[in-house]
Amino acid sequence: MDYKKVIAERIKEHIDLELEVIEGLIEIPPKPDMGDYAFPCFQLAKSFRKAPNMIAAELKTKINGEGFEKIEALGPYLNFFMDKGAFAKVTIDKILLEGDSYGTSEIGKGKNITIDFSSPNIAKPFHVGHLFSTAIGNALYKMFNSQGYNSIGINHLGDWGTQFGKLISAYKRWVDEDALEKEPIKELLRIYVKFHDEAEKDPVLEDEGRMYFKKLEDGSPEEVALWEKFKNQSLREFESVYKLLDVKFDSYAGESFYNDKMDSVVKELEEKNLLVESNGAKVVMLEEENMPPCIILKGDGATIYATRDLAAAFYRKKTYDFYKSIYVVGSPQALHFKQVFKTIEKMGYDWAKNCEHVGFGLVKFADRKLSTRKGEVIFLEELLNESISKTLEIINEKNPELENKKEVAEKVGIGAVIFTYLKNKREKDIVFNWDEMLNFDGETGPYVQYTYARGKSILRKAENFEGEADYSALYSVEEFELVKTLSNFNEAILYGLDKLEPSILTRYIIDVAKAFNKFYNAHNIMATEDEKVKVARLKMVAATCQVIKNGLALIGIKVVEKM
Ligand code: ARG
Repeated sequence: MDYKKVIAERIKEHIDLELEVIEGLIEIPPKPDMGDYAFPCFQLAKSFRKAPNMIAAELKTKINGEGFEKIEALGPYLNFFMDKGAFAKVTIDKILLEGDSYGTSEIGKGKNITIDFSSPNIAKPFHVGHLFSTAIGNALYKMFNSQGYNSIGINHLGDWGTQFGKLISAYKRWVDEDALEKEPIKELLRIYVKFHDEAEKDPVLEDEGRMYFKKLEDGSPEEVALWEKFKNQSLREFESVYKLLDVKFDSYAGESFYNDKMDSVVKELEEKNLLVESNGAKVVMLEEENMPPCIILKGDGATIYATRDLAAAFYRKKTYDFYKSIYVVGSPQALHFKQVFKTIEKMGYDWAKNCEHVGFGLVKFADRKLSTRKGEVIFLEELLNESISKTLEIINEKNPELENKKEVAEKVGIGAVIFTYLKNKREKDIVFNWDEMLNFDGETGPYVQYTYARGKSILRKAENFEGEADYSALYSVEEFELVKTLSNFNEAILYGLDKLEPSILTRYIIDVAKAFNKFYNAHNIMATEDEKVKVARLKMVAATCQVIKNGLALIGIKVVEKM
């Protein structure tokens, strides 16, 4: 039950203000003895021609107090004390009744949301930054779907550009086919790095690279076949990461998909007199917006990243008629997206305002330094596997008897990594620290998963909690806090979507786990004497597990029944 709404409705019966306005005025008092919600009456003084204190006192006598323990007038405030037992009953019954769909709504019905996320580059490693995008994008995808929206996940693969000419040249010169077969991306990276080293000594290589790219663009069969080979091999590796993470996309339309869709955009830009020459290139000037120009065509007439993003934006609008179009890409690309969106706006399309760049910070490691220039990167699959094996070590130590240890380690190990990405505001840099992220007592994935498993173990021991429950006794600070937290699930999702910030939901899940553990430590559930109160507490445990499970599912993490 949304108490704020209920209170607003009750107040509205007596005063002539919009429901939303009343709701907006309702506050959470600073101290619990001042009630759970408060309505300040200052604003009404003018229209009522009365002192706020009087208005509060009068409202108190008139208002319908059903479902509240009491309603008090304190100075200019009307304070509402919830009936905690009734609140616990409504909340827990609702959660247990709705089960896996608790937290969902239909508010987004009929609205399409395109989410461009993950989007790694062919022949390059799927790196820790792409995992950031993957984790955020996947969470937003699921969160939007949970509210009735229709999410469309798009993997905008980096599969086009002059670098592929260089790669073909490097391939012809240095490839080791066996290595390529075994670990394609490592081998492609090796020859690509070699190309750059060699090109510094021998500039002819650059020309050769350009020549091959031209051939590729012109559709020369040999070059196209090589490019396809690189692409398929890279995808094979990406797929195994997506499988580990259980992430799916609705479209793999990458940059090359827009090769035949850019002409019309360039033409339209020309027709609308937006293209100007600048140092041989064709650009859209954005100086009035205090931005550098958006380059559309390079000096040699070739298109670039931005041209493809423009074409992609139009394609997405046409194909999906999106309500919102989201791009989950690192913050260093913020300017790029601003330029692209501004260009669309200048072309006269007001849906440009529905395009949004969702940026995120950098990823660093506490235990190592990486030089990308030397081709040092962390391969994601290795990172995930490292997390799984470290988790397995911890389980072997803590609970050697556990069944399905490997499966548990996989869910918990991967969950720990995803959780680390989604736990803080996305713009904040991440420092990977194994001890921290695998700590069962910290604000971590394993902590939340462990809390879930602990709840499940209580329920297994209790066996039957279907009997009659007496909620009226669930009014301790810990119990009320837990129920309140459980009741806020939908709000946490909606707030997270409003800010496009999955961390809001992640933090909420941490809050649930913390509130549960406080409750668990303060009350010996199994020793509760009154059978009906015991049943009520057990149902509260079941409701907590349900909310943790639903919450984690929305951020792409699975629960384990035992750990
Ligand atoms: N492939 C790019 C990179 O790795 C990300 C692409 C993001 N999406 C887009 N529509 N530009 O940086």
